[in-house]
Amino acid sequence: HLKNSFAPYFKIGTAINIEQQLDKRRGEFTELISSQFNSLVAENAMKWDALNPEPNVYNFALSDKLIDFATERKMEVVGHVLFWHNQTPEWLFKDTNGKQVSKDLLIKRMRHHIRVLNKRYGEKIHAWDVVNEALNEDGSLRDSPWKQILGEDWVQQAFKIAQEELPPKTKLIYNDYNLHNRNKLMGLLELLHSMQANSIRIDAIGIQAHWALDYPSHKNLEFLINTLHKNKVQIHFSELDIDVLPRPKQFDGGAEITESHKYNMFIDPYKEGLPTSMQNQLANRYQGLFKVFLKHADKIDRVNFWGLTDEFSWKNQWPVANRTNHPLLFDRDGKAKAAFYSIIK
Ligand code: XIL
Repeated sequence: HLKNSFAPYFKIGTAINIEQQLDKRRGEFTELISSQFNSLVAENAMKWDALNPEPNVYNFALSDKLIDFATERKMEVVGHVLFWHNQTPEWLFKDTNGKQVSKDLLIKRMRHHIRVLNKRYGEKIHAWDVVNEALNEDGSLRDSPWKQILGEDWVQQAFKIAQEELPPKTKLIYNDYNLHNRNKLMGLLELLHSMQANSIRIDAIGIQAHWALDYPSHKNLEFLINTLHKNKVQIHFSELDIDVLPRPKQFDGGAEITESHKYNMFIDPYKEGLPTSMQNQLANRYQGLFKVFLKHADKIDRVNFWGLTDEFSWKNQWPVANRTNHPLLFDRDGKAKAAFYSIIK
């Protein structure tokens, strides 16, 4: 079992789509989840638009289900996510007249949101992704309503509010993708240093780890791990999956996917299943990555897969919709793949 294999080193988690894995086909997945993992994230249910789609309307049904499931089984829960530019309702950035909300009111709403969640879940949530994806690929701050309304130091403000409102024990995470790219990493370090210089707590960096068979290299990955460690933050691999489908090269640098890319990518070569040679490539890739993780285990708090089985992976829909991807350790029948056996000890 994964969780036993890695217990001496780091927590091992997965992202759960609660409607699918804890409800509809309940018995089929609960055993797999609780036998293999000791940490859980809601894939969508704790995002702002899912929790609070309209002013004063909170939907807790799904997130309650996840928290109860985890608590009963003594699994850790990581909250995903407080402040992000996606899956965030439009009303949040508007005042009651439909104009852009003032800075003061937005800060009030942020504080209120954390208070509501903290009152309900408190220390049942071990760590929160406080801010998600605030950086551009060149390391600058992404343009978003958060930045427009709160200003250039919006990430710092967000962590300050989280620090003030959440229990001191709750770990505060900054989460992002493509952090192995040097420019983005430099931008992250700038952010980190400005928080550390101002005594704003930031405990960990979540490296999303939506990767492929050929990137990032072990060298770049180790550079990233060592750099973050030197800068005094814990490391979470927060959203690990390995895309096995064709993609445009430009995409690795985080470029937008254009229509022509989509055309080139609209092939679905492994619809009938992943051939053995590819299964082995995926297994080797996972084995190599876990060797790196184990080498640096003292720096790593958690390795979390983004999804349970290939059937439910968001990678079937992204960056191009309706393809058949095979990015995880369990196949469409919930059976362990070669990749699973390549990392288990
Ligand atoms: C994805 C989910 O997996 C999808 O189901 C949803 O449609 C879109 O969001 N980075 C993140 C995650 O931080 O929240 C995203 O999750 C994947 C990229």
